[in-house]
Amino acid sequence: MDLPGRAAALFVLLVGSAVGSGIACAQQVLTRESLSQADYVVGRRAFQMRCSACHTLAEGGSHLTGPNLWGVMGKPAGTRDGFGYSDALLAADISWTPDRLDRFLADPATDVPGNRMAVPEGVPNPDRLALIAFMMLETGGADWPKPELPKAVVDPDRSKPVAERFPSFWNHMMSNTTRYRMVTADGELVFKAYFNRDGSITSDRKSIRGFWRPDERDFFCYALYGIPLQPGQLVECFPMVAMSIPRFAEQLWESKPAEGVQLYGGILPGRP
Ligand code: HEC
Repeated sequence: MDLPGRAAALFVLLVGSAVGSGIACAQQVLTRESLSQADYVVGRRAFQMRCSACHTLAEGGSHLTGPNLWGVMGKPAGTRDGFGYSDALLAADISWTPDRLDRFLADPATDVPGNRMAVPEGVPNPDRLALIAFMMLETGGADWPKPELPKAVVDPDRSKPVAERFPSFWNHMMSNTTRYRMVTADGELVFKAYFNRDGSITSDRKSIRGFWRPDERDFFCYALYGIPLQPGQLVECFPMVAMSIPRFAEQLWESKPAEGVQLYGGILPGRP
C-alpha cells in the first residue's frame, strides 16, 4: 500500500505552501469584476480543504468549531447568534468586506492576534481570491450569478456522504481506536485517537486534538495538534479506498511526517 509515500507527499505540499505563504499577506485589490470572474471550482476546493472542517456556509447551517458563515459579508465580525467568539475578534472592529476578509485569511493569527481560528497557515494566492468569491456566492454575499457547471465537475459521484460511499471504511474509523506510535530523536510517544462522526478527533491524551475531512480526491485528511513531542502537530492524508477492507493491528501503516520523525499507525477494536 502506498500510504507513506502519499502521506509524505501531501505533507510536503502543505508545509511547502505554509512556507510560501510567508508572503501571502501581500495585498490584492478585490473588485467585483475580479471576484465575479474567479474560478469557482478552485475556490470550492480551497474551501473544502482549508475551511470546511470548521465552517458551514448554507443558510441555517450549524456552527462547528467555527461559526456558520451565511450572511457574514458586509456584517461586523462576531455577530452570528449562538456562537461564542473570542474577545480578540469582537474587539477587532472589523466589517467583512472582500478586502478585509482577504487580509484576515492571508494571515489570521497576525491580523487579529489572539483570535481563536486555529488554522495552520494563511491562504496563499491565487487561491484566496477564488476562495473569497466562492464564499460570497455560497453565503448570499455576491450580487453576480453562480457559474453553471456541468454536474460531473461539481459532483463527480459525490452526492452521497462518505458514510454511504465508503461504509466499511467509515464504520471502521468511526467506531474503533486508532493507535499511533511516534518515534523521534527525543523519544517515543504512544497515544490513541478517536475519529468522531462530527469531524473532530479526540484522544486518550488530553492535550491531543484534531479534525478530519475527506477531500475531493477521496483522500481522508486529518490534522492532529497538541502532541507533547516535537513536532507538536501532524497532517496526513490517505486514500479511503486503501482502508476499505477493515483490518485490526497495532501497526498497519507507517509514515514520515517530518524530518527525523517516524509515525506508525494501527487500528484496535472498539473504543472506551
Ligand atoms: C480549525 C477550525 C477553523 C478553520 C479550519 C477555519 N476557521 Fe474560520 N473561524 C474559526 C473560529 C473558531 C472562528 C471564530 C474566531 C474567534 O472568535 O476568534 C472563525 C471565524 C471566521 C470568520 C469570522 C466569522 C464572523 O462571524 O465574524 C470567517 C469569515 C472565517 N472564519 C472564515 C474562514 C475561512 C474562509 C476558512 C478557510 C480558509 C476558515 N475560516 C478556516 C475556526 C476555523
